[in-house]
This record gives sequence, C-alpha cells and structure tokens, in this order.
Amino acid sequence: MRASPGSESFASSAIVFGADYNPEQWPRQTWSEDVLLMQQAGVTMVAVNIFGWARLEPRPGEYRFDDLDAVLDLLHEHGIAVNLGTGTATPPPWLTTRHPEVLPVTADGARLSHGGRQAWCPSSPVYREHALRLVDQVARRYADHPAVQLWHVSNELGCHNALCYCDVSAERFREWLGERYGTLDELNRVWGTSFWSQGYGAWEEILPPRNTPATANPGQQLDFRRFSSDELLDQYRAERDLIRTVSDTPVTTNFMVTAHIQTQDYWRWAPEMDLIANDHYLDHRLPDPHAEQAFAADLTRGLAGGRPWFLMESATSAVNWQPHNVAKRSGELLRDSLAAVARGADAVSFFQWRASVFGSEKFHSAMLPHSGTQSPQWAEVCELGRVLGDLGDVVGTTVDAQVALLFDWEAWWACDLDSRPSSDVRYLDEVHAMHRAFRAAGVTVDVVGPDTDLDGYRVVVVPTLYACSDATAGRVSAFVEGGGHAVVTYFSGIADENDHVRAGGYPGAFRDLLGVAVDTFHPLGTDSVLTLDDGRTASRWVEDMRLTGAEVLVRAVDGPVPGAPVLTRHDRGAGAAWYVATALDDDGRRALVARLADEAELDPVPPGVGDGIELVRRTGADGRSYAFVLNGTDGVARVALRGREVVTGEAVDGVVEVPAWGARVVREAGGAS
Ligand code: GAL
Repeated sequence: MRASPGSESFASSAIVFGADYNPEQWPRQTWSEDVLLMQQAGVTMVAVNIFGWARLEPRPGEYRFDDLDAVLDLLHEHGIAVNLGTGTATPPPWLTTRHPEVLPVTADGARLSHGGRQAWCPSSPVYREHALRLVDQVARRYADHPAVQLWHVSNELGCHNALCYCDVSAERFREWLGERYGTLDELNRVWGTSFWSQGYGAWEEILPPRNTPATANPGQQLDFRRFSSDELLDQYRAERDLIRTVSDTPVTTNFMVTAHIQTQDYWRWAPEMDLIANDHYLDHRLPDPHAEQAFAADLTRGLAGGRPWFLMESATSAVNWQPHNVAKRSGELLRDSLAAVARGADAVSFFQWRASVFGSEKFHSAMLPHSGTQSPQWAEVCELGRVLGDLGDVVGTTVDAQVALLFDWEAWWACDLDSRPSSDVRYLDEVHAMHRAFRAAGVTVDVVGPDTDLDGYRVVVVPTLYACSDATAGRVSAFVEGGGHAVVTYFSGIADENDHVRAGGYPGAFRDLLGVAVDTFHPLGTDSVLTLDDGRTASRWVEDMRLTGAEVLVRAVDGPVPGAPVLTRHDRGAGAAWYVATALDDDGRRALVARLADEAELDPVPPGVGDGIELVRRTGADGRSYAFVLNGTDGVARVALRGREVVTGEAVDGVVEVPAWGARVVREAGGAS
C-alpha cells in the first residue's frame, strides 16, 4: 500500500473515544456537568472550536479567547484531551457582509448567502487572508496548552462549498490549467476542443464549467473537479503550515469518505495528513447502509496506507439530514463502533457530545441525548466507553487482507459525467456491489488507490474503472502476469485519464489482459433483466464481444445479444484475468467470489461467517490477535474462536456467541487461529 504518515505519529495507548464538543451553545454551568459526564462515559478526547470563528473574532481583528481558554483548562483538569479546531469552517457574517466576493457562486451564477455554514469560495484570497489570521492567533495561543493533542483544520473541507464558479475561481482555474498544461495548444488537445468549435485562443476565454446551453466539455468538467479538490487541499496546507511554525502536535482534517460526497480526491490529500480521519454516518437511503459503512472503512484504511485511522465523526443514533432519520436499535451503537475499530480505527468519535436544543441539528443524535442520563442511549454510550477502554492493546494493530479493490475518485467523476452509454451505470453502484459480495462471503478487502503496489494480494478487483492511466492498467497486468487473479467489470478501461476513448476495441486498457475485444455496448433499460445460462440473472449492460484468447464461463441467453459472453477468464502469465461484462445479480457475484476464492486459494472462511456475520481480524507484529465478530442479522451468530471475549469478559473455548445486531471481540489465545 502507498505509504502515508500514519497514526504512529499520534501517541495514544488507548482507543480515542469522544465527540465534537460545542460548549458555546450552553451556559458555563452546563460545562461543569459536561466534563463530569464525559468522565463517567470514559471520554478521552473532544473536538472543540470547530465553528468558533464568530465567537473568537466577533468584530474584525477583535479577538476574545476567554471562553475557549476556560473550556480547554476545564477539559484538561478533567483529563480530557482536545482535538483543537482552527475554527475556520464558517466565516462570521461580518466578513461576508464587508466582502461579499468571498461568498461562493453556483454554476448558474447565483451568489449564495451566509446564514448557514461554509459560505466561502475555496479560491478567495480575502477568505484565506482572514482565515490564516485566525489560525495564527489560535495556533500561537494554544500550541503549548497541555490539553491539545491534535489539530483539526477547518471541518469537512468541501462539504457544502466544494465547487465555486465565481470570477475569482475562474482566474485561479486558469492559473491551475496553465501550470498543468503549459500551453493553450496542449490544453486544446487534451480537452478535445476541436469538437463543437470550442477552441480557445486566449487563456481569458476559459471559464469554469458554468451552465451552458448544451453539455459542457468533459475535459473541462474533469479538470474543474481536479482543480476544486486541489484548491481546498491548498487551504488545508496553508492552515497546517502555519500551525507547524509553532507546534509539533499532529495535524489533520476530517475526510468525508461516504457515498453522497465525491468532490475531494483523497488519494491526493492523504499524504498531507499526519493521520487519516474520517466522518461516517450510516446512509439509510442506500440499499445496504452497513455494507457501505464497511466499504468506507476499508477505503479509509487504504487512505491511511493500511495503518490505523480515526473515526472522527459518526452518530450515536439518528442523523437529521436524511428524509427519514433512522434511530439505531439497541446494541447497534456498539456494533457500528466496533465495526470501525475492526477495520482499523483507533478512535471512535461522534457528532456531537450534547444534543443541541436549537439550530439545524437539534434532532441529530448525540452522546448525551435530549432526555439526559436516564435514557437507554446514555447507558449504551457508557457501555461503549467501557468496552473501548478495555481494548487499549488493539491500538496500533493492523488488518490483513488478501483481496484488494481498486478505487479512484477520478474514475468516479469521469464515469458519472453526462453523455455516457447509460445513465444507470453509476461507478459507486458497481464498486459497492463487488465489495458487498466479498463481505457477504466473509472475505476482508483492502480498498486501494490507482497507484497502489498490488504485490502481496491474491485477488484484485477492478470495478467499472471507466477512466484509467496506462500506469494503472500496467500494474494490474503485471499483477496477473505475476500469478494474481484480477477481476475487471464492464465499462472499465474505456478512456484514458483525459477521458479520451482508447480506440481499437473496448475495454481498451484491459483488452489484451482480458483476451476480449468489444465492439458495441448494449445498455439495458432500467427494469430489464437478462437471463444467463447458469440460471442466474443480470441487468444494466451486455456487449458484443469477440474472444481473443479468453474462455467463456457464462453467457446471456436473451436480451439484445443472445449468446453474448458475460463472464470470461483469460490465463495470462502465472495468473488469470476475469471479465464480467454485465451487472451480475447478488447471487452471481457471490458465485464469482466463491470461484475466485477457490482458484486464488484464499484462506478459508471459518464456519458461521458470511451472510451478515463478519469476522475481521486485527493483528500486531508481536502476535497479538483480535477477532471482531459483527452480527448484522436477527439471529444469534456462532463462530469458532478461542480466547477471551472483551465485551462480556468471558473465556471463549471453541465458539463465541454474538447476539442479533451485536458485536464481540475475542482476544485470541496464541495469535490468529
Ligand atoms: C458533519 C459535520 C458536523 C455535523 C454532522 C451531522 O458533516 O462535520 O458538523 O454537521 O455532519 O451529521
């Protein structure tokens, strides 16, 4: 895996447990109660000053630190560490009133207003100057405060303001393009502007992809995504570098590795972090929210280069921003939190400590709910604190996987642009479906980036990697030649990183590796179902294919191309390349995983694992081994293990029993069995 600074730079001998703490919403007497209750729950660290700017600097240049001083001192007196926000996430209304040009502009030219949060343009020099002035004040004042153990730059950079189309952004976009391409000729070539008379004769003519009568140039759209991600990363760097001038304490920001936000290319961000932190909320709009949670955790671990990471925000129960905000059932808090720890988190933190009584998020769950300490939820929070407290020796251990799934934000952007063969082919759907199939079979997967070294894996999964570089395709080929099994799914390798089609037969980048050449795509209607000759079904896609070396394992029997191969295998070097030319149903994916597990000789999955019951191991170099069993079913799970169970404290002599929707952690006797 790609090396990035890991959480070894964060010295902790316990799993961090805590929340965002927003004392500014409460009178001082509540703070005293807060710290006592935090101690009762086992809280070790809280994030403060996340939205602090308007209070710290109520008028330009007039700073007030008395409240924040008191909060930090109080927390420290009670043994609670601080993850200190720079406070720049939301500028105060005075800034955007005096300088309305700081406010972001949408693609149709509307300038947004303050009154919510993150109302700033990522490219605004005025915002940057004022934000850095605040960071300088905060960093110098608290660099040596004993409570501060982590710096938290801004908050979820780009959650609401990732794309700004204002004139300032346009100017910065041109500079960024100038650095990338050097000459206008090169930009015109890469963007393919000979199409539709789009050729640029001067840099000033180039704009962000604002609303236009027809579809916008794909190269322009892709580069604007890249640029926008880089602009916010630059804001991160600027804040971090300022902190660095006065403090050696680790610096990070909270990522949003999640299904509904795609704007940041975190493969580019990760190397800049001292530790990788992610915010994750179950998304009940998805068909399987817990499967997505597992995927996001595996991807976050990938961003951390396989090392431990921080779950910086999650919810104790419901959120407030989905159409139906589903509360967690009893036991689910422990299970969901341990699901993150199982997949490499050394911190479990929530939004937020005490449920607000005003503001947009007053119906968002918290560690301390509206009903107070009498609530069953508080008891579950305290129970979680106890269990995490008992898991201190898990810190620093890592997760081993034999399967890697290749994931790329740029491919996501490119795949989901307009004017594709089918608007039903969505990158994340296929990525999730493949990850879900391995998880359902009980196989742990690393989610890795396009530049990751694939050595050491036995299987590499390449779902719908529409756009990819020669280098990435070459790595997958070399992996197969060297004896690995690669599974590539439809609409992969079609374009290069500039979204230029690789001609000569699809799927260009993987054509030779897969031993197939595809002439025509046949996307299916949304409700169409394809029957396959193995008795299963598929959907979305089928294609006209010529075999150039591959053998056919499964064919379509109906649809637009009866007899079309939908699953092929090509022996190459010491390994094999498998091609899935349709969206298999879940059963078909499971059968494929079983076949791959067999042929790639993956370690056997213990009896009782799979189909909603997960077993994920964390191990240490010294032989320490923890088996996390997560039950996502309505029945009791029984898995063969030996050791001491942490939640119940009981000895496990053969089989651990895990209640419905519960979790257990077995500290294994004598290392992994
Ligand atoms: C996050 C954000 C928090 C809070 C939370 C609610 O996106 O960082 O401040 O809004 O969502 O789920």
